[in-house]
Amino acid sequence: MLWTIFLLLNGLLILILLYSTRTRQKDEPPLDKGLIPWLGHALEFGKDAAKFLARMKEKHGDIFTVCVLGKYVTVLLDPNSFDEVVNDTEFLDFTCSRSQILKKIFSLQLPNIKPAAEREWMKLHFQGLGLSELSSSMNIHLQRQLLSDQSDCGPLEWRQDGLYSLCHSLLFRAGYLTLFGRRDNATAVYEEFCTFDRLLPTLSRGETKTANTSRERLWELLSPSWLSGESDTGSWQQSYQNFLQGQGVDTEMQRRALLLQLWTTQCNAGPAAFWLLGFLLTHPTAMEAVKSEVRRITSQESYPWRPPINPLEAHSTPVLDSVLRETLRLTAAVMIRRDVMQVKRLRMANGQEYLLRQGDKVCLFPFLSPQMDPEIHQDPQMFKYDRFLNEDKTVKDTFYKEGKRLKYYTLPWGAGKNICSGKEFAVKTIKQFVFLLLTRLDLEMCDPGETLPPVNPSRYGYGMLQPDGDLQSRTCRFDSVQDDNNNNSPRIGRRQDQL
Ligand code: HEM
Repeated sequence: MLWTIFLLLNGLLILILLYSTRTRQKDEPPLDKGLIPWLGHALEFGKDAAKFLARMKEKHGDIFTVCVLGKYVTVLLDPNSFDEVVNDTEFLDFTCSRSQILKKIFSLQLPNIKPAAEREWMKLHFQGLGLSELSSSMNIHLQRQLLSDQSDCGPLEWRQDGLYSLCHSLLFRAGYLTLFGRRDNATAVYEEFCTFDRLLPTLSRGETKTANTSRERLWELLSPSWLSGESDTGSWQQSYQNFLQGQGVDTEMQRRALLLQLWTTQCNAGPAAFWLLGFLLTHPTAMEAVKSEVRRITSQESYPWRPPINPLEAHSTPVLDSVLRETLRLTAAVMIRRDVMQVKRLRMANGQEYLLRQGDKVCLFPFLSPQMDPEIHQDPQMFKYDRFLNEDKTVKDTFYKEGKRLKYYTLPWGAGKNICSGKEFAVKTIKQFVFLLLTRLDLEMCDPGETLPPVNPSRYGYGMLQPDGDLQSRTCRFDSVQDDNNNNSPRIGRRQDQL
């Protein structure tokens, strides 16, 4: 007993010693260790990272180093200097942090996988011909899921749902059918995935007790029969498994990796679609501008469309594109993390140079800047549907900070070598989903005076933000009568009883 206390005290002493010995060296960014040894700013960071980093930016400026759980993280918040991080693969490393996250959250180890080979495999499916095939399959599944969800309601009947559950569950099931090709357990996988995803912030803090059960259940649900030598399905999922096999990954890790892929491919599109539709519902001028664009497209196409025809492939949608950009500006909150492999001299856009220490981490949080930076975007908290639209309907891409034109005026997809591989697929999917909803259903808020729920502050850093609560909405089909009447195009946003 005495020995245990002695060892504990010793350990504590070493920690305090280590902690107090770190001081800011010449040319290093401002250092803020927080008040609690080793823990540093962990509590404030985990509770609401955006609020904490905004406070640090106010105190130290665009670059500073903070202590979090014994690690030193240099946060860079000047978008004009981001290239120094996203393009550096010599001094900074993407794979170390990723491996730690895979181990902690997915209990997954893939040490043999070559990141470049994985990116190439992703490209095969999410770019070019592979992307067209996946997108067209996604379009078909979205239409089917939407119609089957509405099939228990008559044409004049309203169906009430939380908008978040409607968007998330529909996009998830369609995505699961597209990529994993399994109809039998889509609902069970969706429900378990929601449990797992809710536990993500606690999992990343190392609290695994409840999450372990959910994780194991998902491994089981996702395990395909052919992993144990049964028939070939020819799906995207199987192609992934073949890739892992080729990289020398054992069967158990192949099984676990499927959960990682499920999360990567399904966790962001649903929340993004929710925010987009939520902003439209709570901003009538924006909704009217999008509907008018959709009307223009539908009036040029013969209706009803049958898959694989997708009118969005043939028409540009500058208004919807601007709405999507604005939605992501307000709700995409990923943290781009890299490990410093050797001492790095970081040159800021204003000419100032800083030294980053080997073994530290460096982190960009584009949500704070550029996305919510008042110097770059006027009234950054406000949703302005035409923020990224010039008067001639071309993309507005000229934004400035300190008089310098910005390359990164928003950064929802990351940048450089590790930019999101699923970007095009995600954009197509979200647009298809919104287009379908607006052309097939009448969608409105149950209470026209309701506002969007606040964001869940524990989700900063994990990708798309999620709401704390939901927005009650109701939907009503109006396509069936038009199919019967053989009208040329669907009505947008009017109930059948108003046609
Ligand atoms: C709104 C939806 C999405 C957003 C906002 C988003 C955002 C991001 C961001 C910011 C990164 C870069 C992280 C970094 O540099 O550290 C990333 C990486 C990645 N994303 Fe997405 N993503 C979305 C949807 C998707 C989808 C649908 C897929 C696949 C179908 C996907 C696949 C990937 C992959 C594979 C990577 C890793 C790239 C690499 O390691 O080189 N993402 N995503």
